[in-house]
Amino acid sequence: MSNMIVFGTQWGDEGKGKIVDILTEEADMIVRFQGGNNAGHTLVTGNKKFILHLIPSGILHSNKICLIGNGVVLDPEVFCTEIDKLGESGVNISPERLLISKKTHLIMSYHKELDQAREMAKSGKDKIGTTGRGIGPCYEDKMARIGIRAGDLQNLDLVWEKINKALVEKNSLLEKLYNQSPVDPVKVFDQIKPYAKRLVPFLADVSQKIQEAGNNGQTVLFEGAQGVQLDIDHGTYPFVTSSNTVTGNASAGSGYFYDMKKVIAVVKAYTTRVGQGPFPTELNNEQGEHMQNMGAEFGSTTGRRRRCGWIDLVILREAVRLCGPTEIALTKLDVLSGLETIRVCTGYEYKGKIVQHPPQEENAMAAVKPVYEDFPGWTEDISKISSWDEMPENARKYVQLIEKYLNIKISIISVGPDRNQTIRIMKN
Ligand code: GDP
Ligand code: IMO
Ligand code: MG
Repeated sequence: MSNMIVFGTQWGDEGKGKIVDILTEEADMIVRFQGGNNAGHTLVTGNKKFILHLIPSGILHSNKICLIGNGVVLDPEVFCTEIDKLGESGVNISPERLLISKKTHLIMSYHKELDQAREMAKSGKDKIGTTGRGIGPCYEDKMARIGIRAGDLQNLDLVWEKINKALVEKNSLLEKLYNQSPVDPVKVFDQIKPYAKRLVPFLADVSQKIQEAGNNGQTVLFEGAQGVQLDIDHGTYPFVTSSNTVTGNASAGSGYFYDMKKVIAVVKAYTTRVGQGPFPTELNNEQGEHMQNMGAEFGSTTGRRRRCGWIDLVILREAVRLCGPTEIALTKLDVLSGLETIRVCTGYEYKGKIVQHPPQEENAMAAVKPVYEDFPGWTEDISKISSWDEMPENARKYVQLIEKYLNIKISIISVGPDRNQTIRIMKN
């Protein structure tokens, strides 16, 4: 058994979906362990494109088992829409190969309403720019011990009771604080009932399933969502998501001890961010536009334009420190073709000193000034190359610089969205 985990190192959208899809070949089971449908993982095979929000990115491989762990927050409506769409595209979806933990918390309509009401009520600089999918309020209910879990759908009386309990507080907030109409418990209950019927066949003891796979010597691939800088504890708080995105959470979020042979850090060859919050290497010039256009940097969940900037080795070093990768998958290197000079942020100037780690005080990341080293770019289109030897010399130097600085081998280089646009580099 040689378990693997794939995680995002920056502010999400590093190309995790594509990497998981590729590595699924080497796995038997794929597990999502945190986040919800705030994620958007894109897979491209030939002329087909799939954007998955909740279902693990291994689903296109018909003989693999996909699991949604207890650490995920699941919107029943989104789950059903996603399986219907996949089914229409000919993907085999059945409870034999797709399972939801009974402990997974459900995103209810009032979580989405609260998420959106809160964002609307915040003034400009305080807005987080959430995806509005109810992620934060659902995790809040989990921690407050008033959440509704997928397993509860087997007992609708319990769901009814829990909805009523949850709405006492929610309606008070919605009405008194946010000037919204109260939510009718009957409506919420009627809305969830048809989904309960559809979801129940998919329920399972996910933790036990992973254990069984382990006992049988199978390989489990854990699929991270978001990125380290969006981690609730270790990211750019408060401009973060509401779950732990670091690799350690794979254990708590799936109910399995931490046992990873391969820890794959997905690093985009530059940096992007959707939503508000500090972004030291952000570019508001033609180089940023180059990345935006060439990389088609629009959010796969909300369609928002992604902010773009140079690669930031300070946050990458932090991701390495926090998550212990054994290798790196470097994505979107093709996007940098055509830039005359490529800048690499190797440190920050903060309070008159050069620092190598992100400062920890709230919003200190908004006060740092990046320190750059410049490298000559390359003009060749690399999106069709299939080996390291075909790589232009300056592109190779760029890759080697990242490897050297982070002291981790790059084992995969992605040069386009398609599965085939991938270069595997064998370890020496
Ligand atoms: P994820 O959330 O980490 O799975 O990433 P997203 O799917 O949200 O965003 C990555 C985007 O870049 C998607 O549109 C992918 O199809 C695309 N993509 C992935 N790898 C590459 C690559 O190497 N080059 C280019 N040009 N696009 C890529
Ligand atoms: P994937 O898995 C990029 C961002 C939102 C917002 C912040 C909080 O595709 O990489 P939330 O709705 O989670 O409360 O929003 O987090 N965010 C993401 N940004 N990729 C994602 O997922 C994201 N999931 C959440 O834009 O800034
Ligand atoms: Mg994404």
